[in-house]
Amino acid sequence: MKKSLTAIAAALVATAAIGTAQAEDVLIGSCIYKFDDTFMTGVRNNMQKAAESVGAEIELVDSQNRQPMQNDQVDTFITKGVNALIINPVDRSAAGPLADKAKSADLPIIYINREPDKAVLDGWSKAYYVGAKAEESGTIGGQLIAEYFKAHPEADKNKDGKLQYILIKGEQGHQDATLRSEYCVKAMKEAGLDIVEIGSDNANWDKVQGHDKMKNFITSLGIDAIEAVLANNDDMALGAVEALKSEGYNLGTDGKDPSKFVPVVGVDATAPALQAIAKGQLLGTSLNDAVNQGTAAVRIANEAAQGKPVTDEAIGYKITDGKYVWIPYVRVTQENYKDFM
Ligand code: BGC
Ligand code: CA
Repeated sequence: MKKSLTAIAAALVATAAIGTAQAEDVLIGSCIYKFDDTFMTGVRNNMQKAAESVGAEIELVDSQNRQPMQNDQVDTFITKGVNALIINPVDRSAAGPLADKAKSADLPIIYINREPDKAVLDGWSKAYYVGAKAEESGTIGGQLIAEYFKAHPEADKNKDGKLQYILIKGEQGHQDATLRSEYCVKAMKEAGLDIVEIGSDNANWDKVQGHDKMKNFITSLGIDAIEAVLANNDDMALGAVEALKSEGYNLGTDGKDPSKFVPVVGVDATAPALQAIAKGQLLGTSLNDAVNQGTAAVRIANEAAQGKPVTDEAIGYKITDGKYVWIPYVRVTQENYKDFM
């Protein structure tokens, strides 16, 4: 008799441990595709802060850009008894099996930054996505270049009435790389520019690769042939700026030759990008809002972990189709960069 009561008690404790948690013991397990990513470092730090402010605990792990490693990390989190998962997939096309794992363990799963197929989210009632519409940042970048080109006739270096530009793209397969590339081109056309793409390459979100790709373009095309650079993120844009600087271009407005400037735009509004805008080395960027993306993800995880309904009111962000939180991009130039520092 005594023994079976203990067994029942143990079983009850075990049941309480899965499914929903009490507000004070929410534990969130989070995998970041790689820690060594400037923008995701911002999101990660803000998730930590958001967890503190809602009184949840969060454990963040580095998936080191390896999907199999991330899959194992998710298994470990589940075994450990986390109450929710926040996942920044390494490969967004591999997000499905992670939702299956979450579903089997009855755990909420919030994807961030790398958007899974809608079918993955639809397949599990506690699956969500927090991100930003890449189309917006692409459009902002294209518009910034178009405005600059119209205001500075000297930017048409070969005086052919066309804009010769270079596109530096993020990682292949990432929705932000595809959509930003597509929409920046679209925006330049819609602004009435006659555009010619003279170079395009992937630099995987990375500053060093952005630098090296830009250096190659300068070598093969000649610096005078390049009239603008559109990069899918700030790290790659800043890499391109470094390559331009070594040619004596984009050294900044501070007493330097202003005619030696190639307009470069990025996306994210990282701290170094804001500095480069301040110095007149980078034309502009869009704020990819790490604070609100990180906060929204943690708030969804915290509500869902307690078995509470995830409503606009509960999380303080608008939920679309019961699944998505979209954080808007904001245009950043010399006029307003200080607002983001
Ligand atoms: C950011 C990049 C970042 C990538 C990581 C994008 O939204 O703009 O800077 O490297 O996400 O997935
Ligand atoms: Ca031209």
